[in-house]
Amino acid sequence: SDMLGVTIAGIKMKTPVMTASGTFGFGLEYKDFVNLNKIGAVVVKGTTLLPRSGNQGRRIAETPAGMLNSIGLENPGVDEFLSEILPRLKEYDVPVIVNISGNTVEEYGELAARLNVADVAGVELNISCPNVKEGGIAFGTNCDSASAVVKQVKSNTDLPVIVKLSPNVTDIVAMAQSVEDAGADAISLINTLLGMSIDIHKWRPVLGNVVGGLSGPAVKPIAVRMVWQVARAVKVPVIGMGGIVTAVDAIEFMLAGASAVAVGTANFINPCAAQSVADGMKDYIKQRGLSHVSELVGKVNL
Ligand code: DOR
Repeated sequence: SDMLGVTIAGIKMKTPVMTASGTFGFGLEYKDFVNLNKIGAVVVKGTTLLPRSGNQGRRIAETPAGMLNSIGLENPGVDEFLSEILPRLKEYDVPVIVNISGNTVEEYGELAARLNVADVAGVELNISCPNVKEGGIAFGTNCDSASAVVKQVKSNTDLPVIVKLSPNVTDIVAMAQSVEDAGADAISLINTLLGMSIDIHKWRPVLGNVVGGLSGPAVKPIAVRMVWQVARAVKVPVIGMGGIVTAVDAIEFMLAGASAVAVGTANFINPCAAQSVADGMKDYIKQRGLSHVSELVGKVNL
């Protein structure tokens, strides 16, 4: 029986476990190692109107509990995505969600319009990239700017619009309510948490961009807390992520109120992580005598 199938903001998925943007390339990079047909949805690397080469210098630093990145949205641009990548990705039976970033409200709108095609299942608005000077996180730390982006995108697409929030805010609930009021169909969180590493031999920041976004197990309790706060404050579905490695982690997010989850940093260690999280969820549901994964959502007893 189908214990894991879910529909989030109209996107039908075989499991509630997707891959987080930026941690799974465009999916195709993994096709020889993972059965892409078994992933809930592939959320592709953040895409911009024009190609970007990303930030200078070192872009990744490992820390004991997670990873710092300052990639700076390197990507081939929306034209190449649509003409070269999407047709090959569509050979697989998996919803494709495109994460988009703009420098201006208009750029987000134009990206949404370009991606308003049948082969795209939804767009995820990245208003939370910590690693670019223009746009990026600026939209996701101000409720009015976030709302303006969401409205512009909604008026330019028929696709479901997921809004990805930044943890680098003081009031995550106010932000979630703003994007919901502006028309978000779902909310995903968290993007990475701003951090810094210093090389004690060189007395220099490890990352070329000085600061970067922290991800992995280190951020999981923060992410679970934010998902719990947001899920009880909004009506739209919440997609939870931040340090999910195993089914146990994912179940925690669902009990906190997430209707679906995404595996991010763990993909770098195990390309099959999303698949094993889904398998573990199914075992757990059976063991608990439940019949469907949705029975977990928001069920934490306070
Ligand atoms: O941590 C992140 N890194 N979050 C983003 O949204 C973008 C990415 C990058 O490309 O720097």
